[in-house]
Amino acid sequence: MTHDKLRHIAIIMDGNGRWAKARGLPRIAGHRQGVNAVRSLVRDIDDLGLEYLTLYGFSSENWNRPQSEVNDLMGLMRLYINRDLKELIERGVRVRIIGARHNLAPDIVSLIENAEQRSRHNSRLTLAIAFNYGGRDEIISAAQSLAEEVRKGNLSPVDITAELFPQYLYAHDIPDPDLLIRTSGEKRLSNFLTWQSAYAELVFVKTLWPDFTRQNLIDAIDEYFQRDRRFGARPDEEKHSIQEMPSATIKLIK
Ligand code: IPE
Ligand code: IPE
Ligand code: MG
Repeated sequence: MTHDKLRHIAIIMDGNGRWAKARGLPRIAGHRQGVNAVRSLVRDIDDLGLEYLTLYGFSSENWNRPQSEVNDLMGLMRLYINRDLKELIERGVRVRIIGARHNLAPDIVSLIENAEQRSRHNSRLTLAIAFNYGGRDEIISAAQSLAEEVRKGNLSPVDITAELFPQYLYAHDIPDPDLLIRTSGEKRLSNFLTWQSAYAELVFVKTLWPDFTRQNLIDAIDEYFQRDRRFGARPDEEKHSIQEMPSATIKLIK
């Protein structure tokens, strides 16, 4: 009996604003609660023994929000790294931040570099935070680097293959996500992991991000294990029925 191993979960953490609105609170309150949800999620993911987790924290399009909200989100990123890095390192988490750096405040760039540097030898869980991230930006930047290699004569256009191309993306050492979850009921990718999610299993849940619990995570994982990943090949006739499947936690650890 074969199961598609689950190594990498990617999450579009959406719905902070609506969570706050429903309580008559300012949007920042929703973002703060969203950070608390991140903290518990990372602990749960670590308990389950997953290898890679990517979280969408700030998109290249989120600059289009009012300046005050952008400032709040930048402030929360600072706070998160300052407050949580110690625990992450103690847990053996390797931290990576994927996204553009050139238009971020210098102190945030330093915090990011420090977090990556201090956690680089950890090997339990890799936590990638997509911050100032856009899938199209990432592809364009890879295309520019490849074009430069061709211009210098180091590469020929025919060398640019599906194996080579992703080596020029932000995190070439992180495998493609197996499971991509979006909260809050929206059913779109919003420029997240555009190249990498070509074959991800997509799970959309109605829960708003600040309310996302361990049970929501387990349910999404269970749904993943009920899917038949074909990658364009024939259906897997050996696939076992839902009833025979062990629970998500057990499968993840194997
Ligand atoms: C997700 O929550 C967090 C970020 C995009 C940073 P939103 O702020 O998008 O919340 P909604 O979608 O307005 O409810
Ligand atoms: C995507 O959510 C970005 C993050 C979760 C960080 P948005 O709320 O910004 O996406 P849209 O605007 O609904 O597509
Ligand atoms: Mg949103």
